[in-house]
Amino acid sequence: MAEKHVSLTEDEQHKVSKLPVMDGTLGPSVVDIRSLYAQTGYFTYDPGFTSTASCSSKITFIDGDNGVLLYRGYPIEQLAEKCDFLEVCYLLLNGELPNGAEMKEFVTTISKHVMVHEQLTRFYSGFRRDAHPMAVLVGVVGALSAFYHDGTDVTCREDRYTAAIRLIAKMPNIVAMCHKYSTGMPFIYPKRKLGYAENFMRMMMGDPCDEYIPNPILIRAIDRILILHADHEQNASTSTVRLAGSSGANPYACVAAGIACLWGAAHGGANEAVLNMLEEIGDASNIPEYVAKAKDKNDPFRLMGFGHRVYKNYDPRAKLMRQTCHEVLDELNLHNDRTFKLAMELERIALEDPYFVERKLYPNVDFYSGIVLRALGIPTEMFTAIFALARSVGWIAQWDEMISDPELKIGRPRQLYRGVPQRDVQPISSR
Ligand code: SDX
Repeated sequence: MAEKHVSLTEDEQHKVSKLPVMDGTLGPSVVDIRSLYAQTGYFTYDPGFTSTASCSSKITFIDGDNGVLLYRGYPIEQLAEKCDFLEVCYLLLNGELPNGAEMKEFVTTISKHVMVHEQLTRFYSGFRRDAHPMAVLVGVVGALSAFYHDGTDVTCREDRYTAAIRLIAKMPNIVAMCHKYSTGMPFIYPKRKLGYAENFMRMMMGDPCDEYIPNPILIRAIDRILILHADHEQNASTSTVRLAGSSGANPYACVAAGIACLWGAAHGGANEAVLNMLEEIGDASNIPEYVAKAKDKNDPFRLMGFGHRVYKNYDPRAKLMRQTCHEVLDELNLHNDRTFKLAMELERIALEDPYFVERKLYPNVDFYSGIVLRALGIPTEMFTAIFALARSVGWIAQWDEMISDPELKIGRPRQLYRGVPQRDVQPISSR
């Protein structure tokens, strides 16, 4: 189609030039185009929303050029070092870190909601044992909307907060049951007195015939992994939850939609895809071949765990994940782990290659997370389910912020129509 440039009439230029600019606390300002169509008859065109702010938010900020990630203003590095996941959940939901009393109350509240309705456990038996855990998770979390619907008035802040508490409290149990169901082992009930990460690992990895003996280093590692994955601005799955929620839909159904989106290999499914890719590469001698495939425009293969829509520098979470890798592998005497060494060699080679340097492609959060999770004994197909467990707090915090936003409107993008012009139906005899 021939290139076409719009030349606005003077009046239109005057109108368009009057579009207001809105400044944020941090990051790029935005041109408020809400009146553009009314003023000019033009839509904007931005598939993938590479230059479009879909909302204003106070929750998370990313500076992609400088590799900065803030949750409610706090750098991810400090939160990962000084807080635990439930503290970060409190921060994302309430905007401030809790004091001692607030944390004690929050932990107690969460512990009261860790059980799931016994009938919810029956949804698992409808799946084949080898069903992908993300397929099961979409179904079971969506089913929560059947158990908590009539009592959830999304316009009521208390009901929204209760929905958030229930989701945060129940997700470890629901995710762990996905794994237990696939193994044929019985579900393990949560224990209210255990910490969040320990409770999850006990339900995931525990054996009902033995006492679960936690390793504090490994429990801390999984807790940090949850912190690193908790929220990330308006990524694809969060935008899915927001769009679903903009119609007033049940929050659990909206989160189920977010889980479905996260499953994709371009998004949260990348952590599983990284491990599969490293297994396929097998040996450092094969790295050049795979790097060449990643650079070949005729080959759909991409280096999984590399690149990011926003980070054009090293993903700060990837740095923290690599550090966690070292800690876990050292603790488990796996510092010669072949896959970890292969991953570090692949990173070294890619970061020296002009193709990756020119495109600012760096390892992202998914590049090392799979290696840590596998070292913790978590099966590869459960990696994205763990991501969903962590991201649930981000999804529900963003959903709550959207519903309480006075500017809330149902999300309804427009389009550039390139189909056939209007025409009349002819009788079938003459088609
Ligand atoms: C997550 O959005 C978020 O915040 C997501 C996330 C979160 O916490 O929610 O951070 C989690 O999803 C991390 C990303 C995990 N995905 C992967 O690791 C899959 C591999 N990465 C790519 O598919 C890709 O980098 C994306 C999807 C992550 C980003 O794609 P973009 O922003 O649409 O970038 P692009 O496709 O326009 O790529 C720009 C260029 C292209 O080359 P040219 O056409 O300019 O020549 O870079 C190339 C791409 O071909 N490129 C890659 C590549 N990623 C981008 N080439 C080889 N391997 C890659 N991984």
